[in-house]
Amino acid sequence: MKTVFIDCSPKKRLSASGFIADMTSIFVSGTKKRMKLRTKADYENILKELEDADAVVFAMPLYVDGVPSHVLPFLREMEVWCKSNNPKIRVYTIANNGFIEGRQNEPLMQIMENFCIRSKIKWCGGLGIGGGVMMNVMRIMIVVVFAVTILNLILTGIDSGNFLDRNVLLNFLKNVAEVLFFGCGIITFDIWIASYINRGKEYGKHYTRIMLPSFLFILAADIFFTVVSIVKGGIFRGWFSKKKPEERMK
Ligand SMILES: Cc1cc2nc3c(=O)[nH]c(=O)nc-3n(C[C@H](O)[C@H](O)[C@H](O)COP(=O)(O)O)c2cc1C
Repeated sequence: MKTVFIDCSPKKRLSASGFIADMTSIFVSGTKKRMKLRTKADYENILKELEDADAVVFAMPLYVDGVPSHVLPFLREMEVWCKSNNPKIRVYTIANNGFIEGRQNEPLMQIMENFCIRSKIKWCGGLGIGGGVMMNVMRIMIVVVFAVTILNLILTGIDSGNFLDRNVLLNFLKNVAEVLFFGCGIITFDIWIASYINRGKEYGKHYTRIMLPSFLFILAADIFFTVVSIVKGGIFRGWFSKKKPEERMK
């Protein structure tokens, strides 16, 4: 069985869609192909990979309650391609969105279902994930916790001669467990959809979210976006940019 995972986020790096595509592929057996859909230049390679694929997983962000605009022309092209190639392909979609409620992805799921009906390919359902941006926080946290633990072990080791300090290791496990707890809904639903992909079955539509109370989520998201905007181009990113908006898209 061959499954093609398409990361449909326009972000070059660190997209939540890319992360969820990679995570899902861990639980999917058979041949796996990971593709990126950002520009028209990607269409040909993706359609080529779809020729002998059994399943395709679109991993995409929710934009303005729908499918991102750069994905729509690809879907139009794929529809034409499907009508002339008649592929026996099953379509799954894993969408993630900025707000905490995963159910916000419902209109996107309907768009993808309609696309499958028009293209005469099998719609097998999808998973909508609320608070998707927290998936990035989760993976960054795990790397940070790991790096801090290594540093801590080295420093404690130099100080005491014991490079495997029990307290440091227990603290590491506690921190990882906390991060995994926030993501337990996503991980569980992801393993669930992967099992349907493996069995070639219809998954239906399901929604989950990051396991964080909404008021904490808003606080965490505010901090995350402030840090990201400082690191990636200043708090007032765009305001002082000499580039016009259309140049920034390139
Ligand atoms: C142009 C744009 C429109 C968006 N529209 C929505 C929306 O309607 N609802 C929502 O919950 N999140 C919305 N978001 C947030 C994204 O869905 C969210 O940040 C997502 O995690 C990005 O995924 P990615 O990292 O895979 O690109 C929007 C983001 C952008 C940039």
